Amino acid sequence: MDAEVQDIERACQWLATTEQLTVLTGAGVSAESGVPTFRGKDGLWRGFRATDLATPEAFARDPKQVWAFYNWRRQLLASLKPNPAHEALVRLEAKLPQFILVTQNIDDLHRRAGTRKLIELHGNIWMVRCTGCQTVSRNEDVWLPELPSCDDCGALLRPHVVWFGEQLQPAILKSAVVASRTCQTMLVIGTSAIVQPAASLAIEAKAQGARVIEVNLEPTVHSHHLDLVLQGKAGVLLPQLLEGW
Ligand code: OAD
Repeated sequence: MDAEVQDIERACQWLATTEQLTVLTGAGVSAESGVPTFRGKDGLWRGFRATDLATPEAFARDPKQVWAFYNWRRQLLASLKPNPAHEALVRLEAKLPQFILVTQNIDDLHRRAGTRKLIELHGNIWMVRCTGCQTVSRNEDVWLPELPSCDDCGALLRPHVVWFGEQLQPAILKSAVVASRTCQTMLVIGTSAIVQPAASLAIEAKAQGARVIEVNLEPTVHSHHLDLVLQGKAGVLLPQLLEGW
């Protein structure tokens, strides 16, 4: 079922009168660019679920396999482009006095679209971290060696992303929590709202009195707590939210 016209109008009114907007995005915002979601039917690689490979245990057991998975994702992402949902969020940032986009995605598509105030909760696929000296650097090679090593100390590199079972960087999480607690309106786009602590950010915003609008293809565990649920594709609905301003 597509979002009703009056719901879109209501969301437009709220956005037009908002001073401070926080946006939380998940894999669904990139689905129309061709990025597989985590829990969708396309979330498999060589028969493995992404959620089984993106773990410290998988990396300790078989780093070549985990790097093969990330090399595949790098190659896929290098060929994909931001979609109308990413682009609408860039225009929204330009219109609002205060705007912060918190994303769970590591695909870099918000940055490539032009979003400036961006918090990447789970890291970025184009960043690597040395398992020895812990140096973090950007590496945009589409295909890294089977076992890439640090230029400084020679130890094994790993993707600078947050894996299942790992903690988010405290400073990054804190800035996302502050952005959620201080906004007047929050847009929650394309996330199944299952993975913590990201999933609780919408609840934090609501508890502080913000209006929370969800944009998703289907209802989520949070839908019934929120102020407005717009059901449909982010790449269709988000441009509609900007029409008529
Ligand atoms: P999921 O794959 O769990 O959820 C994707 C959501 O996007 C679902 O609710 C879909 O209904 C919705 N969706 C799909 N296509 C859409 C579209 N075109 N427009 C709007 N909504 C759409 O992905 P996330 O919620 O992002 O964590 O998953 C959260 C975290 O779990 C990820 O960041 C990752 C993952 O495992 C780590 O890697 C640590």
